[in-house]
Amino acid sequence: MQRKNTLFDSYLCTVEQIVLNPNASKARKYELALKQIKMLCEGEANLIANLANITALLKETFQWFWVGFYIVDNDELVLGPFQGPVACTRIQRGKGVCGTAWASKESILVPDVTKFRGHIACNAASLSEIVIPILKNNEVLAVLDVDSDRLDAFDGTDRKFLELLERIVSALF
Ligand code: SME
Repeated sequence: MQRKNTLFDSYLCTVEQIVLNPNASKARKYELALKQIKMLCEGEANLIANLANITALLKETFQWFWVGFYIVDNDELVLGPFQGPVACTRIQRGKGVCGTAWASKESILVPDVTKFRGHIACNAASLSEIVIPILKNNEVLAVLDVDSDRLDAFDGTDRKFLELLERIVSALF
């Protein structure tokens, strides 16, 4: 069978297999990733399994330095499923980019982590970062943290699609 020359090849898309056109735009990669994430999480009730697969899929799609969840636990953020190097285990509310996103309930885009006062450097190779709080009933349940080893790696497209992902992840809790 001839492969279709599209980013998302419906003949080949299974839960385990994605077909990515390496020349696709970032937006198209996000569209495919979100579609894939919905398929992966459909029918699976285990939160950790779903969050783990989401981080794996995002890492595979975007080759980010680090991507993972911190989950609110007894008034702290505690490291959850992630892909990338070993990271800080606990973050206090209002501390670092993650704790600030938790306290403000707002996404935070940091083009240069050295310019963010209080940034927590889990790894010196991380140069820019985006953090998206996961909300349910106006309460933050977790944050999604993405780190890049390039400066200024994230933009409005990342924010837009990661906030769409936030809606999917919120429904998993
Ligand atoms: N840089 C984050 C800490 C988490 S690690 O980047 C994985 C922060 O300032 O909250």
